[in-house]
Amino acid sequence: MTRGRRWSAAVLAVALLAGGCTDEDANARFRPGAADLGDPYVPGAGNGGYDVAHYALRVRYDPASDRLTGQATVTVTATAGLSRFQFDLAGLTVDRVRVDGAPATHRRDGNELMVTPAHGLPAGKRFTVEVAYGGVPQPLPSGELGDGGFHATGDGAIALGQPESASTWYPVNDHPSDKATYDLEVTVPDGLAALSNGVPKGQSSKDGWTTWRWSEGSPMASYLTTLVIGNYRVSTGTHAGKPLVTAVAAGLPADGPAARALARTGEVADFLAERFGPYPFDAYGGIAVADERIRYALETQTRPVYGPGFFRGDRPNTEVVAHELAHQWFGDSVSLSRWSDIWLNEGFATYAEWLWNEHDGVRTVAQAFADRYAVTDWTKPTVDPGRAAMFGDAVYQRGALAVHALRRAVGDETFFRMLRGWLAERRNGTATTADFIGYAERIAGRSLRPLFDAWLVGAGAPALP
Ligand code: TRP
Ligand code: ZN
Repeated sequence: MTRGRRWSAAVLAVALLAGGCTDEDANARFRPGAADLGDPYVPGAGNGGYDVAHYALRVRYDPASDRLTGQATVTVTATAGLSRFQFDLAGLTVDRVRVDGAPATHRRDGNELMVTPAHGLPAGKRFTVEVAYGGVPQPLPSGELGDGGFHATGDGAIALGQPESASTWYPVNDHPSDKATYDLEVTVPDGLAALSNGVPKGQSSKDGWTTWRWSEGSPMASYLTTLVIGNYRVSTGTHAGKPLVTAVAAGLPADGPAARALARTGEVADFLAERFGPYPFDAYGGIAVADERIRYALETQTRPVYGPGFFRGDRPNTEVVAHELAHQWFGDSVSLSRWSDIWLNEGFATYAEWLWNEHDGVRTVAQAFADRYAVTDWTKPTVDPGRAAMFGDAVYQRGALAVHALRRAVGDETFFRMLRGWLAERRNGTATTADFIGYAERIAGRSLRPLFDAWLVGAGAPALP
């Protein structure tokens, strides 16, 4: 789902033109959709020529054999005349593909699934793709933070990763610039939990298997989808009138630091809502896993996943909860158009930790800023840091310094009004660094270019504002 106002006029014009042509003319307009979206941080990821509105996924997973079988029904709009299009799908075997109910030919090329429908798809056309698939899912080997994707665990599985993960368990346009809504049905052996994003839609059991249903009605970037299967203590309640589902791996102590940190999810979300504006989604939650391969937390939409490393002390780590919940606004509701702008997610989420720590009596924001300023390597840029440095200090810490520098420059009142306005205006969409700077300048009523240049990319320590 791309923000309509960007392309709807163009799509309409092309659709009208195509409608006025003969079949032959129209066929000439059908071309294969691009094999990726040209994002240099994730070569091969995403696909051109269409925009996904919705994924309806039905998945069955058997931890005894590690086998997953899936049926994906994807609702798509062509943004160009398509003779063929592709999804990202890593491993797994495709049994059948239908487009608008009619059999389509398909073949695999590495981690791509190419689909050729019986007839070309004119630009602007909405169509449905059904994919039946299965196999033993494997994570993608990706980078310093560990593999992304579907990890089989002793008792189930954890599908998680950034920047890529989704294509290891369903066919997807795997790039944050194409957000979509989701419905998910997961069938697992009785007794196991199957957790995912969004609002819980109930469970039913039959013949030794239990189906768990989840629905995410706000557009979601594909790397923010998660599936966690296994022995979990699941607690279901409500917070501020919305469902709150938290789950703690049965291998972690029932009243240990993970459980106690997750229990503060509603309180931390409310603290952030006072600063950033209303919580953007229809459900709250969190999942604490025990698998040591999950070395980080991830801001999976409505229900962040926390690795065991955050909860080793005896004090509940609410700093990481503040970080992941801040991403619900910065990253999940307002998402990246391209990965090189990842500081828009991480700089603000780190700044939210500083805000929370000040509130929690740990340390003031001014102190966090001063401490970090003193140790920053200013030769490393915050914007476009390079794929290998996506999760480095220049993104998280220098990014947070830049946010605080902005606050110092414009003052508290303007700063928080700016954040709330930005999040409201861009809600459910995507944005770039230039978009943010442009918005900030509009609210401040003056140029902030030198400030952002110095704090985000300048090669030397900026003067304190
Ligand atoms: N974005 C996560 C955070 O800042 C960190 C992260 C990066 C991550 N890559 C990951 C977490 C892969 C899990 C898996 O909270
Ligand atoms: Zn983060």
